Amino acid sequence: MVVVAILAAGRGTRMKSNLPKVLHSLGGRSLVERVVESVEPLSPSRRIVIVGYQAEEVKAAMHSIPTLEFVEQTVQLGTGHAIQQLLPHLEGYTGDLLVLNGDVPLLRTETLKQLLQTHQENQNAATILTAYLSNPTGYGRVFCNDEDIVQQMIEHKDCTAVQRQNSRVNAGIYCFRWQNLAEVLPYLQTNNAQKEYYLTDAVTQVGKVMAVDVEDYQEILGINDRLQLATAYDILQRRVKEKWLLAGVTLIDPTSITIDETVELQPDVIIEPQTHLRGKTVIQAGSRIGPGSLIENSQVGENVTVQYSVVTDSIVQARSKIGPYAHLRGHAQVGTGCRVGNFVELKNTQLGDRTNAAHLSYIGDSIVGNHVNIGAGTITANYDGEKKHRTKIGDGTKTGSNSVLVAPLTLGDNVYVAAGSTVTEDVPDDSLVIARSRQVVKRGWRKKSQ
Ligand code: UD1
Ligand code: CA
Repeated sequence: MVVVAILAAGRGTRMKSNLPKVLHSLGGRSLVERVVESVEPLSPSRRIVIVGYQAEEVKAAMHSIPTLEFVEQTVQLGTGHAIQQLLPHLEGYTGDLLVLNGDVPLLRTETLKQLLQTHQENQNAATILTAYLSNPTGYGRVFCNDEDIVQQMIEHKDCTAVQRQNSRVNAGIYCFRWQNLAEVLPYLQTNNAQKEYYLTDAVTQVGKVMAVDVEDYQEILGINDRLQLATAYDILQRRVKEKWLLAGVTLIDPTSITIDETVELQPDVIIEPQTHLRGKTVIQAGSRIGPGSLIENSQVGENVTVQYSVVTDSIVQARSKIGPYAHLRGHAQVGTGCRVGNFVELKNTQLGDRTNAAHLSYIGDSIVGNHVNIGAGTITANYDGEKKHRTKIGDGTKTGSNSVLVAPLTLGDNVYVAAGSTVTEDVPDDSLVIARSRQVVKRGWRKKSQ
């Protein structure tokens, strides 16, 4: 049985930010959310986040995660002091406690599993994650005997010059037999450079403590400033792109592309330069996205092309061509074999199959049938200053250039709208609608007026 505690009470002074450090976003999710997610597959019996600095904001940011518990550390007197706050909440608990730092977001679940396994197999009082870093500055150093049994842990600031040469660092990830830890926690002292209660001081007092090296040191990088945040983003992006490249996706100029981990791509997708794929986006086989596009929380079918366009919260079905310069948003849905582009915006609008809106249009809150042609410059006037209204356009209908469709409005099937019309009343099937003033030509007018 394991209980997880996540340290997230610190301010993170070095971020130089009003936002608490653990709420800074890394590829669409906050640092602490990532840590919480990394323990999910371990099915811990409880997950407790220790909050302090801007506690309400941190709690609010995570309120949607079910069964997550929060314990407040009202003054931040160090990592040991943070864990002391658990004492009343874990009274009588006899299992293990996994402690994670809220600012170490790249840790893999696999690594945590290995840590727990080593801990249990060796019946350790504590097991800690370590790594050898080429630049260990700032990290606590770990000193072990030949059997990886921890002898001493010393914070960077408390190290002598010789001790600093030891590049084996404490990752800030620990597994404790809770009862052993609970016994020593009340006796921590602050006789160190930072005058804090160090959790690391407790570690060496609990009994047999073993250190486990992480395979990939990048996993344990702590985020203390924005430079480290950017480095972590880089590492994350490299992981994601490697995965998709090996899965049969082409990335043209990968460094100019960003892809959230939550995105799903199928083989033979081609992503062109300066393209950004975010949130819960899915792109199906054979589609070509970019250059210069942003797709967020959207589903793109097979063999679709999207060029220089923004697509958010929308669905595009197979073989449609989006862009150049289209904006799909607010649950737009585009059927199969459509064309949407050259300065066209679709908002909360559904297009049937083989329907085109190819030039300079705004279509909002509309349901458009199959095989419709939206002429250049067609606008749905869907907003009367108070409410949004809907427009329905039937199958096979064609709107002339510069039509204004004043909603609420229904155009039937196979309707023709004359160019330049402002249509305010419903039009039945198979009709031609002309809604503009007649052209007047006054012959010889120029000669007479001279
Ligand atoms: C800590 C470790 C260090 C390790 C490093 C790894 C100690 C004493 N040192 O140092 O050995 O190499 O992490 O990244 O533990 N926090 C609280 N309450 C507090 C203080 C901190 O919740 O009173 C939280 C912070 O929000 C943060 C985490 O604990 O998420 C680590 O604190 P931080 O001050 O960043 O510790 P480091 O100096 O990095
Ligand atoms: Ca840190």
